[in-house]
Amino acid sequence: MTPADQLPEFQILEHADLPVSEACLRNQQPIADVLESVLEPHSVVLEIGSGTGQHAEYVTARLPDVTWQPSELAERISVINARRLRSGRNNFLPPLVLDVAQDLWPVKQVDAVFAANVAHFISWPKLRSMMAGVGRVLRQTGVAILYGPFNYDGAFTSDGNKALDEWVKRDIDPAAGIKDMEQVVLAARKEKLRLIKDIAMPANNRILILKKYA
Ligand SMILES: C[S@@+](CC[C@H](N)C(=O)[O-])C[C@H]1O[C@@H](n2cnc3c(N)ncnc32)[C@H](O)[C@@H]1O
Repeated sequence: MTPADQLPEFQILEHADLPVSEACLRNQQPIADVLESVLEPHSVVLEIGSGTGQHAEYVTARLPDVTWQPSELAERISVINARRLRSGRNNFLPPLVLDVAQDLWPVKQVDAVFAANVAHFISWPKLRSMMAGVGRVLRQTGVAILYGPFNYDGAFTSDGNKALDEWVKRDIDPAAGIKDMEQVVLAARKEKLRLIKDIAMPANNRILILKKYA
């Protein structure tokens, strides 16, 4: 996996009138495999930072008993809604405006929270705010599923992830960047979320599964 393969995580291409993330096309099936094994039947899932809405589209087709609540910053809502309307699926709910930096979230309680490639895209204060929000909206024993690149023992796990980190800091936010998995787990623990699984995914990504405890 070269840096060039990693960088397009957020580059989008015009395709069939809706933007398409090439990274999503590559990762949606392995992510859905994990979601299928982790989510309880009839789960209501809040997705944070839904981006193009491709995970919402893919998962709602593959897991029809799961209700998927996408969310995003205001400027990206229309694309997700267009994808929802095109899907015609009732388990793909209208997207909500949700900025993880805000204290008030437009959701009361869900069985699971999913966020793909969001942790490295935001600063530490925003990640802590996101964890606090996840802790508020998750029901007891509910799970948070975080997909993306993480560092271990303070080190990048690939040259591609190092290049991605440099790109995010340069082009998105100098305060963003790939987080240490151990620090993410500590921030989660403050919100009563305990790491129960750390799964290796293709292209030097991981899925962290955090469970809410009393
Ligand atoms: C790398 S993209 C990932 C998009 C999508 N999850 C995916 O996997 O393709 C990161 C997403 O995080 C969203 N984001 C950035 N800051 C955010 C914030 N403060 N609150 C919620 N979402 C945010 C961006 O709008 C963007 O869609």
